[in-house]
Amino acid sequence: MRRSVVIGTGSALPRTVLTNAELAARVDTTDEWIVERTGIRQRHIAQADETTATLATDASRAAIAAAGLEARDVDLIVLATATPDQTFPATATIVQHNLGCHGGVAFDVAAVCSGFLYAMGVADSMLRAGMARRALVIGSETFSRILDWEDRTTCVLFGDGAGAVVLEAREESGEAPRGVIATKLHADGTHNELLYVDGGVSTTGTVGKLRMKGREVFRHAVVNLAEVLREVIEEAGLQTSDIDWLVPHQANARILDATARKLGMSPDKVVVTVDRHANTSAASVPLALDAAVRDGRIKPGQLVMLEAMGGGFTWGASLVRM
Ligand code: COA
Repeated sequence: MRRSVVIGTGSALPRTVLTNAELAARVDTTDEWIVERTGIRQRHIAQADETTATLATDASRAAIAAAGLEARDVDLIVLATATPDQTFPATATIVQHNLGCHGGVAFDVAAVCSGFLYAMGVADSMLRAGMARRALVIGSETFSRILDWEDRTTCVLFGDGAGAVVLEAREESGEAPRGVIATKLHADGTHNELLYVDGGVSTTGTVGKLRMKGREVFRHAVVNLAEVLREVIEEAGLQTSDIDWLVPHQANARILDATARKLGMSPDKVVVTVDRHANTSAASVPLALDAAVRDGRIKPGQLVMLEAMGGGFTWGASLVRM
């Protein structure tokens, strides 16, 4: 059977770290409040020379090297972002140019914090349909650029970064074939006002700032994520106990705990990076995946569940045998 197999992962973070204590000097908040309500201790913030495209390029180079490939071996780039370098062209084409792998397919996907799951779904479909052989799937964001730094209810929650995986179309056989096993994606546009940016090309003509009703988003996130995880497990014909690792979107440590509890998964099977990275939107899942691959927790052959929920609302999950 033709499968999209993860053959390399990579990530990149801006060089500047912003701690909770430093933030508390700018807005009316405390390290204690942020840690207790979110689990976040610090986040990386991009400087002027660090952009969604530069971070994506660095993460991609690391993923391509981990796969033992050259950039020219990649013929598809799908980049998930809500914070592109330019309104157009797609940031994926900037990354393609930076990497020097011209001529393939390159485009962006906009599904905010679920963007990486959407990008994986699209790339997996294209690889299995024979439209490409090797795909770079990237989540990259500079949310610091769309934060209202005077709004303590949002500015403490987000950070910048990028993560990438290389997927290769392979004929897999045997009892435990590697690759993407099942993916489910969803969207429900009725909740736009709970999480959105108050600007846009076609409306205000400005970039705008992120606005969120955090408590309501929290409620929807726990319900939607538990549901989509069950859907994917059922589609794969597996049990929760078969899953080796849950690599969730890193929005809030309490959402991670609640989701794992609803599924009956042990907290030590959940990869957590929200303490170091905060919420990096589309970058958070591939950043966490790369961290756990590189520190040796996630091993080849293991079953890994990726999941995310974000603005739109959009949400999704994908089960992968590494
Ligand atoms: N520092 C100190 N106090 C803060 C604060 C901050 N940074 N932000 C909010 N508060 C205050 C509020 O003003 C409120 O005060 P009040 O009770 O006097 O009105 C109080 O803390 C509680 O606020 P509330 O919003 O009810 O807290 P919460 O427990 O729901 O936590 C979030 C807030 C945002 C951390 C939480 O709702 C959350 O994580 N939601 C999900 C967000 C998310 O995942 N978004 C991205 C999805 S992709």
